[in-house]
Amino acid sequence: MTAPENKAPATQLARAKVNLSLHVTGQRGDGYHLLDSLVVFPKIGDRLTMTAGSADGLEIKGPFGEGLASDSDNNLVLKARKALEQRTGRELGPLHFTLEKTLPIASGIGGGSSDAAAALRLMNEELALGLEERELEEIALPLGADVPVCLASRPALMRGIGEQLQAAPNMPDCGILLVNPGLAVSTPAVFKALTNKTNSPMPEAPQSFADLEVFCAWLQQTRNDLQAPAISICPEIGVVLDTLEKLPGVVFARMSGSGATCLALCVKGQETAAGLKLKAARPNWWIQAGTLA
Ligand code: C5P
Repeated sequence: MTAPENKAPATQLARAKVNLSLHVTGQRGDGYHLLDSLVVFPKIGDRLTMTAGSADGLEIKGPFGEGLASDSDNNLVLKARKALEQRTGRELGPLHFTLEKTLPIASGIGGGSSDAAAALRLMNEELALGLEERELEEIALPLGADVPVCLASRPALMRGIGEQLQAAPNMPDCGILLVNPGLAVSTPAVFKALTNKTNSPMPEAPQSFADLEVFCAWLQQTRNDLQAPAISICPEIGVVLDTLEKLPGVVFARMSGSGATCLALCVKGQETAAGLKLKAARPNWWIQAGTLA
């Protein structure tokens, strides 16, 4: 019998999921919280490569690869594969994945969720499985509440626990900084520290915003309800936000998800200089600059 032929490796960017706002509006009987969130996906992320026909396995590389489990019970890439095999009733192997982990772990920007979503996209496209976006979303949700929104990696209004998705309003072109002080924060611990679980939803968003100033004025009326409880657990987040607000070019700063990564929106073209200035002052912080689109 001849060995299966190796296909060319295919790579996808698993973009960071950034919550510009995150309102917690309720809690379900199973403990999951109901959210109302505006989510964006800057071009900053992990890289996932899949080679079909090669030996089965998962190799993890990159600055945040150390300490990440590569077994199928714990790694979301392999869990995504298993979920897809169960759903299609097909054995998909042999598949070799290489994950280059450049997003910090447990940091509020959905790194693991985005890796799982990239794995689902890669398998569906490269193995020509022909699953529709709806079906992929159904497979994605049990893997994590953020996995469905990461599938398309398009700006979205996200509700329910993460499964109700709607296109986001048109946002102005601007720069973005993602900054993490090098501390992992436990998402369940932050939700637990949130005292009020029934907060008001986001104010209605217009279809588009005239400019960055108008957009940020609207964002100021929104919240991240997890920011205060996260700061109570990890006070360094407050230091990050204060520092970001004082950087030249920054017009808006907030924590993403359950933290500790914070975002700053910048006047377009000023994000790189702002990032470099911050890096010089805080060499141990993880700092990435990009654009909102
Ligand atoms: O769904 P995911 O595994 O990413 O969520 C991690 C944890 O965050 C959950 O176990 C739950 O404690 C909390 N969570 C929540 N409500 C959500 C999303 C996450 O309570 N909508």
